[in-house]
Formats: sequence, structure tokens, C-alpha cells
Amino acid sequence: MNWRDGFTIPTSNLYPFQWNWDSGFIALGHYYANPAHAMRELDSLFSGQWENGLVPHIIFHSEHEETYFPNFDFWHSNVNPGAPARPKSSGITQPAVHGFILENLLDKSPDDQDLLAFAKSLFPKIVNYHRFLYDYRDPHKEGLMFIFHPWESGRDNSPLWDESLERIQIKPGDLPAYQRLDTNIADPAERPTAEQYDRYVYLLLMGQRHRYDGPGIAEESPFLVQDDMMNAILIKSNESLIRLGKRLKLDTAELEEWQAQSMKSFKEKFWNDDLQMYTSYDLRGEKQIAMKEIGGIIPLYAGIPSQEKAAALNNHLQELHASGYYLCPSFDVQSPAFDSCRYWRGPVWPHMNWMIYHGLKQYGFQDTAQIVKADTFEIVDKYGFFEYYEPEKGLAQSLKKAYGGANFSWTASSVIDLIHNP
Ligand code: GLC
Repeated sequence: MNWRDGFTIPTSNLYPFQWNWDSGFIALGHYYANPAHAMRELDSLFSGQWENGLVPHIIFHSEHEETYFPNFDFWHSNVNPGAPARPKSSGITQPAVHGFILENLLDKSPDDQDLLAFAKSLFPKIVNYHRFLYDYRDPHKEGLMFIFHPWESGRDNSPLWDESLERIQIKPGDLPAYQRLDTNIADPAERPTAEQYDRYVYLLLMGQRHRYDGPGIAEESPFLVQDDMMNAILIKSNESLIRLGKRLKLDTAELEEWQAQSMKSFKEKFWNDDLQMYTSYDLRGEKQIAMKEIGGIIPLYAGIPSQEKAAALNNHLQELHASGYYLCPSFDVQSPAFDSCRYWRGPVWPHMNWMIYHGLKQYGFQDTAQIVKADTFEIVDKYGFFEYYEPEKGLAQSLKKAYGGANFSWTASSVIDLIHNP
């Protein structure tokens, strides 16, 4: 239903274009029905790659769609001469999942000649993307990339970003008039607030003034964060690309250098002993963002924690399970900022569960992995393929549906792939 001749939309109406990290997970699902579509999906995404290596967070293949804001005519990606004229795109990025997705596809069919040829052609493009992240998003050369817009994190309205966003004070007349369209389609109670939205627009326009890649972004942006999940995913993809490169006899020296430095800095900078969890780092405020949030669990999937730290993350999940929550709520259920139905402030997201499931398995936490999988199946079975789900089991009982968009592509893909993973 969501296939659009070469790429897959996340869901109709709400997200009518191609989204960066969605496409990665979506490729996994396509693989079982039609491997050619899995490859097309990724090819289409990388057809929007910029000369500087950026893979944008949205690719506007279908320019006639008018149900989305901010559309390509608001992003004006042509302020950067290296942005392709077509397909049009946004000017920010999203989590770099493509390295590990590509390896996962090849693991499913190691001798498939079409897939091998495809992997050889995609490999340098993904490396180029990682090079962009290290060259343009790591001003202190720590091996850790920053984001300058919450939408880059993939966890758009997480409470993690609240303090940084509050630095942005918007006065009347500061922003051009705009009309958001998401709240016409989805319930406003499940979407970001108007004030939050103004700040998103502010940061977008700030990026635009700097052609979306200029050094002025790091100097000026009130929102400048090294996100734990984005960096964990980058590390995971580096590792996959190194293994793949060796398998395909391609050069991996540069990747190995990045990887060593990223691993080291990640371990030094992001662990929080009080929380017993990883945290993101606010580069502008020069401090950890000390909150328990789902991104702090994803390093499991990247093999970053020691066995002891992994056990702390596992305990955290077991406690949530014992207290009547579906795994894994996207935000700290004890926090006043927790909001069980609002987007990234509490609900469960199946593609996040996919990564956490694999991370738990890698560390030998079979029980918890099986709970994550069983919970995912239970909520999807009950409500269908939604965007996100109520985490409080008691409350979920009384609901007839889940949250956000319906018939959601990466939800379906993650479930299909989990079905194939014992
Ligand atoms: C929302 C999510 C983002 C996702 C997009 C498309 O913006 O926060 O992570 O990529 O929807 O599904």
C-alpha cells in the first residue's frame, strides 16, 4: 500500500515522502516479499545524497504532494550548490542506519549475486555519508557527531531537547508566516505543541542561512547536541561496514580510524553513573542531558557497554516490565515530562524495539529480548500497524487504537523481520 514506484512512504497523508531512517527498516521488510524492492528503496534514498555526502532526512520524490509542512519549497535545499536539483530534499539528516541494514540484508542471503553487486555499489555512498558526519558535524574532532535540529535525532519531540529549545526566544515577526499541517491529520494531543513547532522552524531557517553545512552552525546554533542514539547507530554502522568491506575486499582503513575514536569518546562522555544509563551531551551547555530515555539503551545494539553496564540496562528494562509497562517506553516513566500518548515523550515504537531486541540478544539477555519481542507482537496484534503505542498496560486495555499514523511501514517491517528472528 505504501510503495510508490521506487520508494516507500512511512504512512499516507501524514508522511507522504521518503524518510531517511524509515527506509532502512523498510528495506528489511521488503526483502522477504521482494528483494529487488529492498535494493530500490535504498537506491532511491541515496539518489538524494548531496555532494558533501549528506543523506537528507526527507527526499521529496513526489513534488505534487501538498499535505506536508515543511515541504521542499520551505527547505530550499538549493541554497547549497551540492544539493541535487532532483530529487528535492530537506537540509538535515537522520540516524545513519544504512550500514547495519546493508549487512543485515546480506546476512539473509550471503550468496545472492544481485545483492552482492548492490552492496558494492552502495558501500562507498554510505562511507561518504559517514565522512560527512565526521567532517561537518564534529568540530572538536572527538569522533562524535552533533545534531542542530531535534528532527535529526529521529526522536523529534523528546523531552531531551526541551532545555536546549528553551534557549530560543521567538518574538512576533521573527518567523515568516507558516501553517503546519500535521495537526489537521493527527490528533493534536499526540503531536508537538505550537511553541515547539516555532522553534523547529527557527532552527530550520538558521541551518538554511548556513547552507545547511557551514561552520557557522556549530558557532551559532542554540541547539547543539551529541545524541547518544545517533552516535551509537553510527558506531554500529561503522562496524557493519568494516565487516562488509573485508568481505567484499574494499578499503576499510578510514572506517577503522573513525570507529576507534568514536568508541573511545562515546564510552568516556556518555555514561551516567547516577542514572546507570547512557545520556546525550549538550555541546552548547557543555553538560550531559541527564535523563533516562530510550536512546540511552540503544548502545546495547552497537556493542558499546561492558557486560556490567549492559546488565544495568537490562535491569532497567526488567523493572519496567515488572511495573506493568510494555517494553520499551520511549521516555522515563517516573519523570514529570513523561506523556504516555505524545510521540517521543513516552509511547512504544516497534523499530526501536527491533534494535533493543538484537542488542539484548548480543549480550545474552535472552529473557528480556523475548519480552521485547512478545510485547511488540501483542500490541501490533491488538491494534494493528500503528506509528506508536500506549506503554501503560492498564491504560492500553481501555484503548481501541494506538497512536499517530496507521498502516505504518517501518512498524510492519520491524514485525516481519522479528518474526523471522527466533
Ligand atoms: C516522525 C519520527 C521520525 C520518523 C518520521 C517518519 O517524524 O519522529 O523518526 O522518521 O516520523 O516516520
